[in-house]
Amino acid sequence: MDIVSLQQRAREIIEPGAYDYYAGGADDEVTLVENETAWQALRLRPHVLRDVSGVDPSTTVLGQPVRTPVLLAPAAYQRMAHDEGETATARGAAAAGTLMCVSTLATVTLEDVATAAPGAPRWFQLYVRKDRVWTAELIARAKASGYTALVLTVDVPVLGRRRRDEKNKFTLPTGLTMANVGTAPPKVEGSGLAAYADSELDASLTFDDIGWLGGLSGLPVVIKGVLRGDDAVDAVAAGAAGIVVSNHGARQLDTTVTTAFALREVAEAVGDRAEVYVDGGIRRGTDVVKAVALGARAVFIGRPMLWGLANGGAKGVEDVVTELTEEVVRALMLCGAARLDDVGADLLA
Ligand code: FNR
Ligand code: LAC
Repeated sequence: MDIVSLQQRAREIIEPGAYDYYAGGADDEVTLVENETAWQALRLRPHVLRDVSGVDPSTTVLGQPVRTPVLLAPAAYQRMAHDEGETATARGAAAAGTLMCVSTLATVTLEDVATAAPGAPRWFQLYVRKDRVWTAELIARAKASGYTALVLTVDVPVLGRRRRDEKNKFTLPTGLTMANVGTAPPKVEGSGLAAYADSELDASLTFDDIGWLGGLSGLPVVIKGVLRGDDAVDAVAAGAAGIVVSNHGARQLDTTVTTAFALREVAEAVGDRAEVYVDGGIRRGTDVVKAVALGARAVFIGRPMLWGLANGGAKGVEDVVTELTEEVVRALMLCGAARLDDVGADLLA
């Protein structure tokens, strides 16, 4: 398999406005391209003669065992890709032995996603609405449904300008809602999602809110959308158990540093005080190995999961994770590393 052809097939399946929403980035989409090319540009220095006859790509994330370091990123609005939406993704994740992070803006309720794959590990991605009472209730629902961490996304104080969505007057198609919220974004001149996010989401968040969330939920809090070592250190000091190095798949601020570039600085700043993950442009097993070499415990994939979902529902998602994991295993063998713990910074030129 190759994710480029999977994306091409998805483009023929998904309605054009929805495809643009999934595929697009902010402004001139400079970072959208660079997120992928930055991983490709890193050069490996493989070891030889290290007994790689039994390679094991499994790991743990916040103590939860996963069969692969390829985790599923939170992505809104999955029923536009496949009628079963997030419930199919949950079953695909479970079959592949990975963890799914479910978006606040899912098109299936967080309870129904949990029921679709009851035994599988799941985290909940949180957008803090200005209505903090509603937000607290949402967190309680996630906890009651067996989500074991809160992933607070911190790079959306305002939505990035997605020119494709503005041109398409993007909103959810009739019949779909943001199921946890109970409404759809408004139909407006520009992007309905931007109108929703800018009126509802809380742009006043600070590091102090990390403690508020942890105290409220009793769950570990992961901070998603960090690109600097100093911010990561402050987040950990405020109680974060994990950091996702992310530029939101290039959908927020265009021309940021790539995540391949930012990862080393963040991982070095955090050390072993918290787990560090990364997402953005991960498309090959070698990208995953490079991320681990730069200090990531695991990676998240966003768009590849959506292309798998569009092509084949739960099985499509499972196949994307399984095939990417097979690439990881091959890359590990060719790098002389039998397990992820054997992958060090020395593997990179
Ligand atoms: C996202 N992303 C995202 N992140 C988040 O925290 N909450 C969300 O609801 C969404 N929604 C969303 C929708 C779509 C269509 C995409 C493509 C992405 C960002 C996502 O979690 C992740 O950071 C990126 O997708 C990673 O980059 P790649 O793998 O898509 O290149
Ligand atoms: C996005 C938001 C919903 O990237 O996170 O579209």
